[in-house]
Amino acid sequence: MSQRVNLAQLLEFKRQQRPITVLTCYDAHTAALLQQAGIDSILVGDSLAQVILGYDSTLPATMDMMIAITAAVRRGGPNVFLIGDMPFLSYQTSKADAIRNAGRFLTEAGCDAVKVEVDHRYVDLVADLAKANIPVIAHLGYRPQSAYQTATIVKGRQVEQAVDLVKDCLAMQQAGAVALLLECVAAEVAAEVSKRCEVPVISCGSGPGCDGQVIVLHDVMGLPGGSAPRFVKTYCQVAPMMLKAAQEYVADVAARRFPDNDHCYHMNAENIDAFRAAIKAL
Ligand code: KIV
Repeated sequence: MSQRVNLAQLLEFKRQQRPITVLTCYDAHTAALLQQAGIDSILVGDSLAQVILGYDSTLPATMDMMIAITAAVRRGGPNVFLIGDMPFLSYQTSKADAIRNAGRFLTEAGCDAVKVEVDHRYVDLVADLAKANIPVIAHLGYRPQSAYQTATIVKGRQVEQAVDLVKDCLAMQQAGAVALLLECVAAEVAAEVSKRCEVPVISCGSGPGCDGQVIVLHDVMGLPGGSAPRFVKTYCQVAPMMLKAAQEYVADVAARRFPDNDHCYHMNAENIDAFRAAIKAL
């Protein structure tokens, strides 16, 4: 992919029923790898608070953290459709805060869109962002920023909740959302939303009937910090490899097997003699 993926292409992928591929990412060099692998889009999730910073929720992510990390990902992945995740309290406080903070993702971090966690109470906010020409993705279903208020993770298993969810999704599209992200929504409901919406619907644990899929990088790669819920397929196990390598390093240093002659720099013989002579008098 030599040109940046744009919104028109994502819509075209949906029209062609060509699945949209998305992963989360939190650093420039992994972003470059993902771009090389042909990923369409990267989401710099506020999940960074958990998988990078070691908090037990996404709430401690701040705007400054998100902007710095998102800008790094853009440097590594100049051609991906880059989504910035608006952290807790960056859009709930006021319309002005929401527009200003969303704008920072576009102007300072080079994003193509921002994502907000919403339900029906946020229709006006999505409309306000859209009116400010900010491409906004509405994240519905399970919403980690309000996890403490939620008894069940999977959404839409009950008919009434499923119908409300479909209504909320249609309202978000109507308000101007350029895409939807459905997290942990019953697959039947998510498929129905995808069928009824013109905008791309990205699934995070919401089944194969959506227009695209996103998963947290650490869960896919088996990196330390990942948690791999049931809906995740883990493609490799990096954490055990890192543990083994760290154990070997510790043992090698302790036993003076590292560094060996191949892993250090030397003076030439002539300089060694001169050096030793020079320090004799010290
Ligand atoms: O923050 C994040 O990584 C997300 C995904 C789980 C969708 O919002």
